[in-house]
Amino acid sequence: MTKKARMAVVGCGAIGRVHARAIAGLDQAELVAVCDVFEESAAKLANEFGCKHYTDYRKMFDEEEIDLVSVCTPSGTRLDICEAASSRKVNILVEKPLDITVERCAKIVEMCESAGVKLGTVFQLRFTPAFKQLKEAEQRGLFGKMILGNSQTICFRSQEYYDGGGWRGTKAGDGGGALMNQGIHSVDLLLWVMGDVKAVSADKASLTHDIEVEDTVSATIEFVSGAMGSVQATTSVKHGIDKRLEIFGENGTVIIDGENVVMWEFEDEPSQGAHDIETREGISAKSPLIEDVWGHQQQISDMIRAIREDTEPLVSGRDGMKAVELVLAIYESARTGKRVVLAE
Ligand SMILES: NC(=O)c1ccc[n+]([C@@H]2O[C@H](COP(=O)([O-])OP(=O)(O)OC[C@H]3O[C@@H](n4cnc5c(N)ncnc54)[C@H](O)[C@@H]3O)[C@@H](O)[C@H]2O)c1
Repeated sequence: MTKKARMAVVGCGAIGRVHARAIAGLDQAELVAVCDVFEESAAKLANEFGCKHYTDYRKMFDEEEIDLVSVCTPSGTRLDICEAASSRKVNILVEKPLDITVERCAKIVEMCESAGVKLGTVFQLRFTPAFKQLKEAEQRGLFGKMILGNSQTICFRSQEYYDGGGWRGTKAGDGGGALMNQGIHSVDLLLWVMGDVKAVSADKASLTHDIEVEDTVSATIEFVSGAMGSVQATTSVKHGIDKRLEIFGENGTVIIDGENVVMWEFEDEPSQGAHDIETREGISAKSPLIEDVWGHQQQISDMIRAIREDTEPLVSGRDGMKAVELVLAIYESARTGKRVVLAE
């Protein structure tokens, strides 16, 4: 890789713009080209950031020398783009969710592994101080035996939000609703800290929207470790509580609301009140648009580091696949009314 990572963005919508802004603010990267099936969208972003634009990503990969591409298209469209990129030895950072079925995710992971290119999934919350410190506490064994892990994403999206994108709230484009789209960030955090899931039992419904997927889901989780927990997500609550993660071990408790630590207590450590934990302004649960590009900058920098050092990124393609696998197991349980077993 040359001094600066030469980057491209495929998908010039809301999150494609976040990636372009994030790349533009990084010393170690430069935005070479953007691509969207709508030329107007691609040209607009390219003009703003002074790069080339394309309507065909295969042509872009053939004509441009690209080290890393950000895939920012609708959730059910990643497989073909990843195939085109990996076959041309372009490293890939895919927006969450990695794709919308386990089979498609597995193909993406296998293609990248056999092509020898790095694959990352965007879960930018992992880079925020509160969650990094939570993971460190778990790695240091401060929790002791894990007892309970709960994640909630209680937010609001209007009917116009679902009607606006064409793909949002559809099985084919979004792959699911409140959990696959909004709640998957917390699903990843829960898996990261609590470990693999053994089984799930769940309910889901569309309570306030006219969409073919759920706007509300509630699941009971059994972890392989023996710990228990829950996952809830909804886009039906106007005065929600943002994302909330509660981790209870036999020797301590951490509760994080949004990116704010509201409880941090461990038996073997002097009490570290919430005021001692580094925090930052974060992402709003009230708005579907992300104004803040800090988390994406951290994640893009980590991908560049992984390419340069030939190591795994902090959030791998396999991590992205695991989150999708859990979301789909929750959907399957809600659909059948039966407990779904993921690991014995
Ligand atoms: N990390 C986060 O917090 C976060 C936030 C918002 C969205 N997202 C994810 O980003 C993805 C896109 O969401 P969005 O809100 O930006 O959607 P969007 O509809 O605003 O933008 C998607 C863009 O992709 C383009 N596109 C579709 N198919 C294409 C193809 N084959 N080739 C090139 N361009 C194509 C569309 O024309 C559109 O401009 C979703 O998967 C979503 O889950 C992640």
